Amino acid sequence: MQIRSHLEILPPYTPIEPFEVLSARLGRPPEQIIKLDANENPYGPLEAVRQALAMLSFIHIYPDPESRALRQAIAEFIQVPPEYILAGAGADELIDLLMRVFLEPGDAMMICPPTFGMYDFDGRLNNARVIEVPRRDDFSLDIATLRQVVEQEHPKLLFLATPNNPDGSLPSPAILDEILELPTLVVLDEAYIEFADPKRELGRGISRVGEVPQRRNLVVLRTFSKLAALAGLRVGYGVFPAWLMPTLWKAKQPYNVNVAATSAALAALEHASELKEMVKRIIAERERLASALTHYGFLTLYPSQANYLLMRVRGIEAAELKRRLMLDYGILVRYFSTARLRDCVRISVGRPEDTDALLNALNQIAQEV
Ligand SMILES: Cc1ncc(COP(=O)(O)O)c(C=O)c1O
Repeated sequence: MQIRSHLEILPPYTPIEPFEVLSARLGRPPEQIIKLDANENPYGPLEAVRQALAMLSFIHIYPDPESRALRQAIAEFIQVPPEYILAGAGADELIDLLMRVFLEPGDAMMICPPTFGMYDFDGRLNNARVIEVPRRDDFSLDIATLRQVVEQEHPKLLFLATPNNPDGSLPSPAILDEILELPTLVVLDEAYIEFADPKRELGRGISRVGEVPQRRNLVVLRTFSKLAALAGLRVGYGVFPAWLMPTLWKAKQPYNVNVAATSAALAALEHASELKEMVKRIIAERERLASALTHYGFLTLYPSQANYLLMRVRGIEAAELKRRLMLDYGILVRYFSTARLRDCVRISVGRPEDTDALLNALNQIAQEV
């Protein structure tokens, strides 16, 4: 028996440790762990979402394969007609769906690392040739090389996280316009766009989502994981050009968005003004945390438009800082072992009390650095 050869050499995915397992390992109850390692929304779902989930009916019936009610609500939220919208089990599902729809074995796709790990992971899973055009030292895009690679290699897809994970940078509108002129399908992953919007117009504002119907080569992905604190339910959506929709409908799993996720996302959208308040609080906390972190000589911060901050660490190994925060203080932050980020940690923005605990821990660690 022979499995597909490209899967034999695929490195295993490193999953996060489930909260309960971690709690047991650290010997701390879950409520004494401050989880700032996965860019989740620290406030949890809105009360209306909790109520909708508590009152769920029809769990015994398969969900609507076309997610009609949810797509209609998303359409009103982002002001794009529902015909352009496909809901998914998180943005993650739609990343994989796009690759399955476009990539023959060996076809090229392009990413700009450091960036969200799922593009590379799913690309390899789909037996694609993943071409990397690394970002510059300040995480800005190397547009000249991007253009050159597109001309030479003809990648079918370009995945760009806007804002980028892990640093939180956002390309300027002019750079994005240039990228959208490239002859490839550009997938803008706006998982964190709500935290970057200066006018706080959650669905629109600086998002490019409104342009999708006018362009043939633009896809925008969004998620309820961060904005609405629904990461555990797995629900997101994509906005796609009209010509692509029939194929996506054919290729997606019929019941991809479950009943609970649908109901939760609908309830969240019905209370968009509360989401807006939550985003405002997270942005205010990001600014407070960023300004506090500049006072530590051993940390150099990158400006972020998302709900996390990336920083370089000096005087102590970044991996050791992560370990200390976890073992001594129960604070989880993200460490990356890749060459480019080996001396960095990424810290998600938590609630004010989470920031206080983090700063308290850093004050103590700073005395030893
Ligand atoms: C850039 C980016 N896109 C997508 C996702 C995943 O979104 P979802 O939870 O909707 O699958 C993440 C999660 O961390 C992310 O950082």
